[in-house]
Amino acid sequence: MQIDTTVTLNNGIKMPQFGLGVYLSEEGSECYNAVQTAIDLGYRHFDTASFYQNEKSVGKAIREHSIDRSEVFVTTKLWNSDHGYDNTLNAFKESLKNLDLEYIDLFLIHYPVQFIRLETWKAMERILESKNCKAIGVSNYMVHHMNELLANCNIPPAVNQIELSPYCFKSREGIVKLCLENSIAVEAYSPLVRTKRFNDPKLIELADKYDKTPAQILIRWALQKNIVVIPKSSNPKRIEENADVFDFNISANDLNRLDNFDENLIVCWDPMQTP
Ligand SMILES: NC(=O)c1ccc[n+]([C@@H]2O[C@H](COP(=O)([O-])OP(=O)(O)OC[C@H]3O[C@@H](n4cnc5c(N)ncnc54)[C@H](OP(=O)(O)O)[C@@H]3O)[C@@H](O)[C@H]2O)c1
Repeated sequence: MQIDTTVTLNNGIKMPQFGLGVYLSEEGSECYNAVQTAIDLGYRHFDTASFYQNEKSVGKAIREHSIDRSEVFVTTKLWNSDHGYDNTLNAFKESLKNLDLEYIDLFLIHYPVQFIRLETWKAMERILESKNCKAIGVSNYMVHHMNELLANCNIPPAVNQIELSPYCFKSREGIVKLCLENSIAVEAYSPLVRTKRFNDPKLIELADKYDKTPAQILIRWALQKNIVVIPKSSNPKRIEENADVFDFNISANDLNRLDNFDENLIVCWDPMQTP
């Protein structure tokens, strides 16, 4: 496994398994520099959203880097207030304009907004026909949202991006299993638990054992479970640290130990509560 190793989505598109998240990476030099630094370090996948208000910086950093557009994978997302058929088509155009890239690799529904999400998915399917978008998917879909979508779609989602770390893995096992059974790639957001468990002695013990940092252990855990993972950092040293995870292997025993760190810890929003 290397930094540019890809998973093949259910429509044949290849998605790098490791990427950079840019939530709270401020539009302007902070986000621009983070993306350019990451490309220099070998990152080939960037995860933004209209809600993050930094699509322009992500697109500019990619355009102004010498790397070819086809070498990088860019995800953006439809915000909650943009659901509905026409709104979705318009929001996609707006994201494409902000990024100022010829196409978007992956367009996700950011959150399963009640009542309207199936209508929104129809527009997502239409967007996929437009060729300005290589793959469509969802985010924060739990089992009940996913079953509803699979029963009502013409094109299934290629990806489901959910909060995932050893600290909530068991609690999310149902949706992970459902996705894998349906060839939907699972993507882990907040994989570092937003640093909230870096002082956990169990995690520190494993980090010491492998001569790695807690962040690196959490990222490697996801990679070895075939989960796409997008740690966020705007700090060049930490962007580098998070990418330095391709020179060691966590043993099966230790992966199992990590799986059992579960404490149903959710640091972002909890879509289980959304009908
Ligand atoms: N679909 C969704 O609803 C959703 C929700 C949340 C997140 N996401 C996506 O997933 C990405 C990652 O999730 P996240 O941003 O919530 O959290 P995260 O990646 O778990 O943690 C990010 C935090 O950890 C710090 N950090 C990063 N690397 C570190 C290291 N090696 N050592 C110490 N601290 C480190 C960062 O600070 P510095 O920047 O200062 O390094 C930042 O405060 C987001 O950026 C976004 O793209 C999606």
